[in-house]
Amino acid sequence: MSEVYHERAHGRVNLIGEHTDYNGGWVLPTAIPQFTEVRLTKESGNSAHVTSSGNRDFTYTLGLEKKTGTWIDYLQGGTKFLSEKGRISGFHANIHSTMPEGSGLSSSAALEISFLKALRKAFQIDLNDVDLALMGQRIENEFVGARVGIMDQMAVRLAKNGEALFLDTKNLSFERITLPLDVMDLIVINSGLSHQLSAADGGYNQRRAQCEEACALLGIKELREIDLTTLKSKTLPPILARRAHHVVSENERVHAAVKALKEKDLHTLGKLFVESHRSMRDDYEVSIPQIDRLVDLCLLDSGCYGARLTGGGFGGSIVAITKKDHGKRVSKKVIEQYLKETGLSATSLV
Ligand code: GLA
Repeated sequence: MSEVYHERAHGRVNLIGEHTDYNGGWVLPTAIPQFTEVRLTKESGNSAHVTSSGNRDFTYTLGLEKKTGTWIDYLQGGTKFLSEKGRISGFHANIHSTMPEGSGLSSSAALEISFLKALRKAFQIDLNDVDLALMGQRIENEFVGARVGIMDQMAVRLAKNGEALFLDTKNLSFERITLPLDVMDLIVINSGLSHQLSAADGGYNQRRAQCEEACALLGIKELREIDLTTLKSKTLPPILARRAHHVVSENERVHAAVKALKEKDLHTLGKLFVESHRSMRDDYEVSIPQIDRLVDLCLLDSGCYGARLTGGGFGGSIVAITKKDHGKRVSKKVIEQYLKETGLSATSLV
């Protein structure tokens, strides 16, 4: 029997700090129980043979990776870039995932990272964890064509249950913040409407391009460099002004959220969630009506401190904080009402 190289990576939910990571800003993700795992065995020859729990099998020749526009590209990008660091030969990889795809909870980063880790182990490739995360981002940027930031890959690699990872995406330094789960519940509800970060969809890449345009006009390298007062004193075309306003205000909200978490000030934290959601909805325009409804349904409950869209947007999931021991009740009530109003089945994930 040949050796099985087994690796797992958990998804993440971002508490606050959305669309800040490709602007050199700050983010605050935590790990969720859902995961992707890879079991890899070496085989003779030069083929990558992939099987998955969804019965989606695929074989490709190493060295001849070609974009397909499907989830296999995350793996093809992995073997293409990792083979620059060491020799990879034939293998069989079985993928099993408990993560809903396109839910805004980093299913693609969990896939890339668990796969890269299994390859690194099997072929003894010398690559540290941060470089592994950067390679995950490179797969998305250069192979898949989604110009994502570094939050997901770093979170999937480093975030832990019960702790938020306060990450500075410019220099990758971070602090672990304990979540006050003795006084609050964290809930995550998947809308059932999956997002698409792919280049074909374009909304995500377009937001990033707009931030770059705003920076060029402001004469700065990254939106991280300015505060709200300075931004307000500048003139930008209206759409770019709104995009920049989201990013700059969101960065300030991340710092305020860290303070609130440390002080167990859940009212302030909840208020920041709500402001963040409105900013994503109105200034950044990455929400959709069904997600707005899920957020509003949460906020109608007096047990809920705050709720917001989490992840890249255009569908996906919401994250909310409630009074201790109210999470299950709030999720259930919100999901039932959402089904009644929209006919859509949302699911509670945390
Ligand atoms: C996606 C990307 C991240 C980040 C978020 C939005 O999850 O992969 O890099 O930009 O969207 O905060």
